[in-house]
Amino acid sequence: MSIPLLTFFNNKGGVGKTSLVYHVAWMMAELDRRVLVADLDPQANLTAAFLDEDQLAELWDRPQHEEPDTIYRCIEPLAKVGDLREPRLRRISDRLSLLPGDLALSGFEDLLSTEWPNCLGNQNLYRPFRVLTAFWQVMQLGARQCGADIVLVDVGPSLGAINRSALIATDFLVVPLGADLFSLQGLRNLGPTLRRWRTEWIKRLENWSSPEFALPQGKMQPLGYVVQQHSVRLRRPVAAYDRWVRRMPAEYMRSVLGQDAPDDNGDPSQDANRVATLKHYRSLIPLGQDARKPIFNLTAADGAIGSHSVAARQAYTDFRELSQEIVRRMTAAGGAVA
Ligand SMILES: Nc1ncnc2c1ncn2[C@@H]1O[C@H](COP(=O)(O)OP(=O)(O)OP(=O)(O)O)[C@@H](O)[C@H]1O
Ligand SMILES: [Mg+2]
Repeated sequence: MSIPLLTFFNNKGGVGKTSLVYHVAWMMAELDRRVLVADLDPQANLTAAFLDEDQLAELWDRPQHEEPDTIYRCIEPLAKVGDLREPRLRRISDRLSLLPGDLALSGFEDLLSTEWPNCLGNQNLYRPFRVLTAFWQVMQLGARQCGADIVLVDVGPSLGAINRSALIATDFLVVPLGADLFSLQGLRNLGPTLRRWRTEWIKRLENWSSPEFALPQGKMQPLGYVVQQHSVRLRRPVAAYDRWVRRMPAEYMRSVLGQDAPDDNGDPSQDANRVATLKHYRSLIPLGQDARKPIFNLTAADGAIGSHSVAARQAYTDFRELSQEIVRRMTAAGGAVA
């Protein structure tokens, strides 16, 4: 039995993927789930959100250091003649562990591109499948090691080979969206690409009639989208915000679900595919980053006093509802995290 993976993804950068993974991970742990968070973005922002400078230096700034304590170091031997290695996780809290990211991961992109066509045909398929499923294998090993109920995955915004490997590994998908044309455009690229990756992966699975190790099934089931109010560009009147937000329901249906959708504008608050709308948390966000805590756990000692303290409590409710809704949707879709 594999442990379910949930990835937050959009082809538009800066829409709040990393912040969402960070906060949902803490909240799921708060809701008694055991969580592994995996940083598959070569920018490694999620890792920097969890670890302080000294911990990051210990992780990344040691020449010739080869312990398997970042995702890259676990899969690096595959670039030579070795096999992947079980990760050494960072324990963040009782129920939360981190599989750290690594800037060196971008060096793996070429190998992932080269091995993709090699999963077809009838040559020896062991190695190409080992390379292409390396993320999934390492995350499953990590999840088993820390007894995780769920793995939450952060990726960068590209549609390249690293993200293709990350996405074929995922069971579920949540799409964060900003209220602007860039996000809608991102959806238009994302949907068809995901469908193509899924089809191409299934073709590869069918081609390996007797796999020699377990493989991800490439479900990539979309659970819905999260509207991110903070990523509205500049200060704009409500009408401008509304203009883009009201196009989300139809665009999501068409691009991501591949279903017909009427062109008329819709209100996302009435849309079954909208998981949540997240506010602009303003100065609470830098306070959380400084304290290296989720914004909903900020206290007076962290500077959250007066209106900040009220906002932190409200954020707790927002993220609890969002996380519970994600769990509900995963459970309804057959993922066992209830
Ligand atoms: N709800 C929010 N309210 C206010 N600011 C936010 C919120 N969510 C994220 N931000 C801020 O927006 C910026 C972008 O967020 P984040 O890094 O999470 O986006 P991303 O989608 O992961 O970006 P990338 O595509 O570069 O990986 C960050 O400065 C973050 O602190
Ligand atoms: Mg990010």
